[in-house]
Amino acid sequence: MFHKTLIKNDRMKKTEKIFKGKTLAILSGGGDTPAINSSIECIRNRASMLGYRVYGVKKGWKGLLGDGEIVDLTHQPYDGIYGGTALQSSRTNPFPSEKNPVDRVPQILQNISRYKIDTLVTIGGDDTNGAAKRLYEQEGIPVIGFPKTIDNDLRTRTIHSYKGINHEAVICPGFPSAAKGLMELTLRLRTTTQSHSRIMVMEVMGRDAGWLTGSAIFGGADVALVPEVEMTKERKDFFFEFIKEKYLSSPTKSLIIAVSEGVRWWSDEKGALDMVYASSELDEYGHPRFGGISGVIASEITKRTGIDARAQITGYYPRAGQCREYDRRLTSTLADKVVDLLLREDYGQMPVLKEIVPYQELEEFHTSSIDMGDIGNRPLPAAYYSSDNFMFTDVYTDFLTHVIGKPRSIEFNPCFPIVLPE
Ligand code: F6P
Repeated sequence: MFHKTLIKNDRMKKTEKIFKGKTLAILSGGGDTPAINSSIECIRNRASMLGYRVYGVKKGWKGLLGDGEIVDLTHQPYDGIYGGTALQSSRTNPFPSEKNPVDRVPQILQNISRYKIDTLVTIGGDDTNGAAKRLYEQEGIPVIGFPKTIDNDLRTRTIHSYKGINHEAVICPGFPSAAKGLMELTLRLRTTTQSHSRIMVMEVMGRDAGWLTGSAIFGGADVALVPEVEMTKERKDFFFEFIKEKYLSSPTKSLIIAVSEGVRWWSDEKGALDMVYASSELDEYGHPRFGGISGVIASEITKRTGIDARAQITGYYPRAGQCREYDRRLTSTLADKVVDLLLREDYGQMPVLKEIVPYQELEEFHTSSIDMGDIGNRPLPAAYYSSDNFMFTDVYTDFLTHVIGKPRSIEFNPCFPIVLPE
């Protein structure tokens, strides 16, 4: 009996420090989100427990170029609630691109070897994780991906079950906090919109997907336009009539229209569908930067309906700030799955949530892993948005309620008695 216990204890000790002497490095690439520090902290904590020394690579792939910019995270205090990424980020592409034709893979391989990095965890979207997967396939670098984006457009193959029907949804760390942030911003915007009896056209990040725009509805936005539904000439005519009627029948004579930055909007001038960019310059992954569609829509609304409309770009506000409850639990749960992948040496994979559940219920049980090179871009499912009334549907409401709680609205709409001169 005593002998058996000894053997068991000995085996446990070995398992506990299975990766002793090995080094795992974490990097974050692409746009920041409020959940990256939480992801880094959760991965670091678990990898340290397995016995790894844990390094952080600064500024995404850039930190593996030249002499390298590497920091030791193993025993350092780390604030996972503070948003953004303490490792910082970049849109550096290891592979040649139009913007940068130089192949940086040799430099990256050299630094992986110089710093004796055994395993790399890449926190990113399609671009960062796609590049990591190529490094794994072409060069045999053991990589594990970790999802990240406020756009929520990675194909995580997450099932959302509503009224007996399964929908293929998406849930990426970063989106829950940004959605909550956008909901709060929309609630605030109501008072100004109402005070001036205006139409407020509120522009929302998200690139080619409208997942984030829907969270404005949870803060009281009345109408929404998403990139998934093109605003053709005919649909624009219908839209102007629709909002005029909605505005005139609203008790406060005010409307908030949430507009995705990537909306395809008919341009009378060009005689074609158009998108509005803040800059025509492409990043190293070939993406332009959206920005400005709200101004175009607001001025056309005023011209076509005579109602005073203003544009408001929410920009980085939803993307900034601290990590919220759902993201904290989500990153912690997905980091548990990273442990599973590390123990099975299952590289080239990324942990994802299998099904939508409220954050209180999140457990590793709800996760699975997918090929990290096959993740972008998942638009809104057709059942989540209705083009008939420019509104997100009950199915989307159910999805987002699991993530940020019920929709809210703040209204002060008194009917003061009118006084006539005596
Ligand atoms: O992909 C995340 C995102 O925030 C998009 O929603 C947005 O279009 C883009 O990044 C903005 O990028 P940048 O940080 O380069 O301004």
